[in-house]
Order: sequence, then C-alpha cells, then structure tokens
Amino acid sequence: MGADVVGKGKMKRKTICIANQKGGVGKTTTAVNLAHGLATKGKRVLLVDCDPQGQVATFLGLRQESGLFDLLVGGATPGRQGKGEGR
Ligand SMILES: Nc1ncnc2c1ncn2[C@@H]1O[C@H](COP(=O)(O)OP(=O)(O)OP(=O)(O)O)[C@@H](O)[C@H]1O
Ligand SMILES: [Mg+2]
Repeated sequence: MGADVVGKGKMKRKTICIANQKGGVGKTTTAVNLAHGLATKGKRVLLVDCDPQGQVATFLGLRQESGLFDLLVGGATPGRQGKGEGR
C-alpha cells in the first residue's frame, strides 16, 4: 500500500494503491471499506478496481460491466448504475 499527495494548493488528491500478488488476503475488502470510510468522512472517493474479477462491484451490490482493460484497450466507456454510482 502506498499513498502520495499529487495536488497543490487547496485541492489535495491522494492516490492509494492496495496490491498484493497473493490471493485472498483482503485487498478488495480493504479497498471497499477504506473507500466507504473516507466517503463517510466527507472525502470525494474514486474507487478503481483493476482486478478483472471485478469483485468491488459485487461488494457494492452493483452488476459487473466492462472492466478497466476494456476501458483502456477495448474502447469501452465508463457506465453509470444510478446517481453517483459507476464502476
Ligand atoms: N480482516 C478480515 N478478517 C477476516 N476475514 C477477512 C478479512 N478481510 C477479508 N476477509 C475475508 O477474506 C476473504 C478474501 O478477502 P478479499 O476478497 O478481500 O481478498 P482479495 O485479496 O481481494 O482476494 P483476491 O486475490 O481473490 O482478489 C473474503 O471472504 C473476506 O470476507
Ligand atoms: Mg480481490
């Protein structure tokens, strides 16, 4: 896990990456709960699931749509599943 402050001035942005090559160690659980905790503290959070399994959608009760690979390589466009909810 790592974090860095990218923005300058009033708008500071942090990027937090949760990664581990070992499976089933709680990466998705950590990411979802950390994102939720920050959001409930009033932070604006963008949770990006880079895992082709797309389990973040499952955790959040959303249906799975095109993944990050499709967005970057396949020409797909980000979808929305209700106000403020997208994958
Ligand atoms: N702190 C915890 N205590 C107990 N169980 C946990 C904890 N964190 C996660 N788990 C459970 O461990 C299992 C694996 O968690 P999770 O799916 O978050 O791991 P992962 O690293 O994202 O797995 P994968 O590599 O398959 O993507 C899940 O059943 C989850 O509920
Ligand atoms: Mg996972």
